[in-house]
Amino acid sequence: MNDEEKRQYEAAARATDQVRALSSMLGRQPTACVVTFGCQMNARDSEKLSGILESVGFALSESEDADLVIYNTCTVRENADNRLFGRLGAIGARKKTEPWRKLFVCGCMMQEDIHIERIKKSYPFVDLIFGTHNLFTFPSLLEAALAPENQGRLIIDVWQETKTIAERLPSKRKYPFKSGVNIMFGCDNFCTYCIVPYVRGRERSRTADEILEEVEKLKDDGVKEIMLLGQNVNSYGNKVPEGEREAYGDFPSLLERVAETPGIGRVRFMTSHPKDLSDRLIDVIASHDNIARHLHLPLQSGSDRILKRMNRGYTREQYLDLAARIRDRIPDIALTTDLITGFPGETPEDVDLTIDVVRRVRFQNAFTFLYSRRSGTPAAGFPDQVDHALAQEGFDRLLAVMQEIAKAECAAKEGQTGLALVEAVNESDPSLVTGRLSDNLLVHFPGDRNLIGEFVPVRLTEARGFYYIGKRE
Ligand code: SAH
Ligand code: SF4
Ligand code: F3S
Repeated sequence: MNDEEKRQYEAAARATDQVRALSSMLGRQPTACVVTFGCQMNARDSEKLSGILESVGFALSESEDADLVIYNTCTVRENADNRLFGRLGAIGARKKTEPWRKLFVCGCMMQEDIHIERIKKSYPFVDLIFGTHNLFTFPSLLEAALAPENQGRLIIDVWQETKTIAERLPSKRKYPFKSGVNIMFGCDNFCTYCIVPYVRGRERSRTADEILEEVEKLKDDGVKEIMLLGQNVNSYGNKVPEGEREAYGDFPSLLERVAETPGIGRVRFMTSHPKDLSDRLIDVIASHDNIARHLHLPLQSGSDRILKRMNRGYTREQYLDLAARIRDRIPDIALTTDLITGFPGETPEDVDLTIDVVRRVRFQNAFTFLYSRRSGTPAAGFPDQVDHALAQEGFDRLLAVMQEIAKAECAAKEGQTGLALVEAVNESDPSLVTGRLSDNLLVHFPGDRNLIGEFVPVRLTEARGFYYIGKRE
């Protein structure tokens, strides 16, 4: 444990006393709810917040009626903002008659002053605001927010950066049998549309030993599937001080070590930037059956002119060549992607080029986004912003093609057998369970809750668009 981690454990011990006092005041155990708005990294952060809340004595709840509610925000697209403010107002009204209620806001949006100003002005009943860089100080922040002398005060603690990595703190996994593991934080790529480098800071990697120590611990705790997380896992270990390189290595070596940890049934990772994906990574995936047959490889656009203005660092030919090399070595791998339409200067011909790459690569699935102008990013200042109706037209065309291909790709595997990690009992039909296949698609098949957390071979008897109905082999 490093000094910072020790400090936080001490703060957590003091917060435990405060929660005990709250508990006797209420005559019951206080409840807490963490709401995630963003990506996998945001979700992993929420698990850390939940773990700390549970360790100091809160009962975790899925309901925003809880005594303490934390909104963990995302700011990648503009409309993300709207989701937050309505909910704040509703809780603010209840706080008037139930003053013990606590309301915290954290995450990427809080790294932007404009949102903090809005909360100060219109939602002053919020108790605590913190950002992405000081999430690891949550025990101290919680202690401050619960202290009687701070009642009615809005505490704001947002850092512009940090070099500290303090990961050995409690965390509460959403699923007992699978877990994300942060291997790096931040992003240095500065794609011109993207806010992430500004709100998550510079790229920082954890050492390989620290990551493997966490993987071992998770395994001992019953975790069978690990997802290695970073904005661009392929640059893991790149930005580290000269002379310390050995403590990190590179992403293919790290992935290999995680996959070879006995007891780890499956490894996934997110996200791979196409410009940094090496042949060695392809080799490591090909030679390990327990590395998921799924690669999320964001394309964004199929037009060289747009890719260049996005600062993506590859051309359509390079992307197509990479996809072909991957498919050649690992024929059963599913490729998924992210696509943006309506980026400044994009014409219908550029959208045609994106559609053309989609048809050639045949993605299993794609997240398709309408370009959102994020102030502070270079593209927000480009003069040739695209008219909304035109952007929407491109979006609709792209989505229609993508959906047709996704259905066909799903249908092509009908009749095959796959290994599903069972996640839950099916919500609409309790005679079925839902499992996730190596290629990330879901299969529903007859079974009961005893199968949750088990790998089960399943025949994919019927493709239903984007998922399967199956039968145990
Ligand atoms: N680090 C990951 C993605 C992070 S954000 C990567 O590079 O792939 C997830 C996705 O949101 C991006 O891939 C992009 O498609 C989309 N996105 C990011 N900023 C956006 C914006 N301003 N407008 C629309 N989509 C955006
Ligand atoms: Fe954003 Fe690009 Fe970094 Fe992904 S790689 S987080 S899209 S800047
Ligand atoms: Fe959103 Fe932050 Fe993730 S902006 S996409 S939650 S890194």
